[in-house]
Amino acid sequence: MKNIRSFNENLDIENKKVIVRSDFNVPIKNKIIQDKTRINLSIPFIQNLLDRKAKVLLISHLGRPKNIKDTSLSLKPVFNYLQEKIKNKIHFYSDKITQETKEKISFLGNSEIIFFENIRFNEGEITDDENFAKNLSSFGDIYINDAFSCSHRKQTSIHKITKYIKNSYAGPLFMKEIHSISMVLNNKKNPTTCIIGGSKITTKLGVITSLIKKVDNLIIVGAMANNFVKFMGNNVGKSLIEKGTEKVIKEIYNLAKQNNCQIITPIDLAVSETSDGNANYKDLKNVLDNEMILDIGPKTIEKIIKIIDSSKTVLWNGPAGYFENQNFSRGTVSIAKKISDNTNKAILVSIVGGGDTISAIKNNAMDLNFTHLSTAGGAFLEYIEGKNLPGIEVLK
Ligand code: 3PG
Repeated sequence: MKNIRSFNENLDIENKKVIVRSDFNVPIKNKIIQDKTRINLSIPFIQNLLDRKAKVLLISHLGRPKNIKDTSLSLKPVFNYLQEKIKNKIHFYSDKITQETKEKISFLGNSEIIFFENIRFNEGEITDDENFAKNLSSFGDIYINDAFSCSHRKQTSIHKITKYIKNSYAGPLFMKEIHSISMVLNNKKNPTTCIIGGSKITTKLGVITSLIKKVDNLIIVGAMANNFVKFMGNNVGKSLIEKGTEKVIKEIYNLAKQNNCQIITPIDLAVSETSDGNANYKDLKNVLDNEMILDIGPKTIEKIIKIIDSSKTVLWNGPAGYFENQNFSRGTVSIAKKISDNTNKAILVSIVGGGDTISAIKNNAMDLNFTHLSTAGGAFLEYIEGKNLPGIEVLK
């Protein structure tokens, strides 16, 4: 961690064009931002650069557009919000980034921002394209990556851009994430429990197998757990299921046995016929063909709470259920409250991560306290897995 080039407060940035890569990949419904955490956390640093008379060129992605301009993934709502929060002048640049962009934005004054439309609307972004990196880097003197949550992506605005801007640094949010996660991982006290939610086991297999070797308890919740419920021979009705996971699940159990790691999966469930319905609590054996699993049940919650009570370190990523409907947020809310209570009592060190997990907590207007609340999802998991993240490697 020590060898990451981090942005230095003493650096002279007055009159300099500073490209800041932020992560404003936030949930937006009908042009309304559902959770502003990532944006709010990014603003103080941007304001600091403006106060020090830099010209700020602000970049982010939103969602996963397929290179075509998909208006539902426009960053305009974020631009409007930034205008409310930052008093300095902010211009919105909605064109594609080309060779001509440098000239087009040359009007930018000190202490002003140009906020670029979704960087993934440009063909060269996700392919980490050389030419696109040249165009993008051409208008900046300094590059700062303050989006740790995107650092697992080998994409131009995270990776290739640094090839052309020698003055590339990690921003303060980025450093805080790495520092907090590393501190907990390096000094962690056992027993350690990891709670993983989300929908796909296959995308999280790497982190699961790596964690099995490092933690005492691995709790699997969310839609991912449906595959385990099915593997045990139960009917899962219309639930979200990933095909062909039997082999993966067998491997997980074998590895857990070899490493003395306890795998915990749901023992009861909250089901409904539709995702906007009410919760009906059931034992594993009783799910009907027309029902879907949308949360963990009360017995599972009780079991998880006991495990959290017996743990000294907890890592949590991914909600336990379909929290968007309050009827299925009980599992997530109970886990969040318990981790927060024990953190407050100073009997637990906790790291909670992931955009969805944060949204779930915010949705329920809970005032909770964790040792570290990470805004990163995939990057957080890959980092704790011990992988080299492309966005970090280039800043070393
Ligand atoms: C995230 O939300 O985890 C980051 O913004 C990365 O988004 P991506 O998975 O679409 O690259």
